Amino acid sequence: MDIPYRAFDTKGETYAYLLEQLRIILDDTEDRTAGLANASSALFLLLPKLNWAGFYLMKDGALVLGPFQGKPAVSRIPVGSGVCGTAVLTKATQLVEDVHACENHIACDLNSRSEIVVPLERDGRLFGVLDIDSPVKARFDEEDRTGLEQAAEMISEWLEDK
Ligand code: SME
Repeated sequence: MDIPYRAFDTKGETYAYLLEQLRIILDDTEDRTAGLANASSALFLLLPKLNWAGFYLMKDGALVLGPFQGKPAVSRIPVGSGVCGTAVLTKATQLVEDVHACENHIACDLNSRSEIVVPLERDGRLFGVLDIDSPVKARFDEEDRTGLEQAAEMISEWLEDK
């Protein structure tokens, strides 16, 4: 599968292209690991200034590390713990401008400065979270929240029957 790298002037264009590519990736497979692995690759490739992009999936009542791009990360996060566990507990996107100022943050890569975590949820069923980290402080804004919530919605719908 060839996902052409494209750089855009605006976040709006970047997310429109990313969502297009994610649709192609997910339509290509029925396999959870294959789809999420390619999705993490596309996110990491197409969104600038990232050092980690991937998934934690609910398993036996906790978040377990899924497909990702970046440095090795903590393999299990209890619900309520860290930024990811908080996203599960609150069922709401967590946008952290400065992880150094966030007591609840679990540091996996010391280069991370900001983070966004979006729950993967559909019809009240929570599959896990999409977790994205950046070495740049305040890298993520409301446009990123909107774009990544759209991506999470598409991925959750795809996960429903997997
Ligand atoms: N930052 C997360 C832990 C996972 S790493 O960022 C990949 C957290 O605090 O939940």
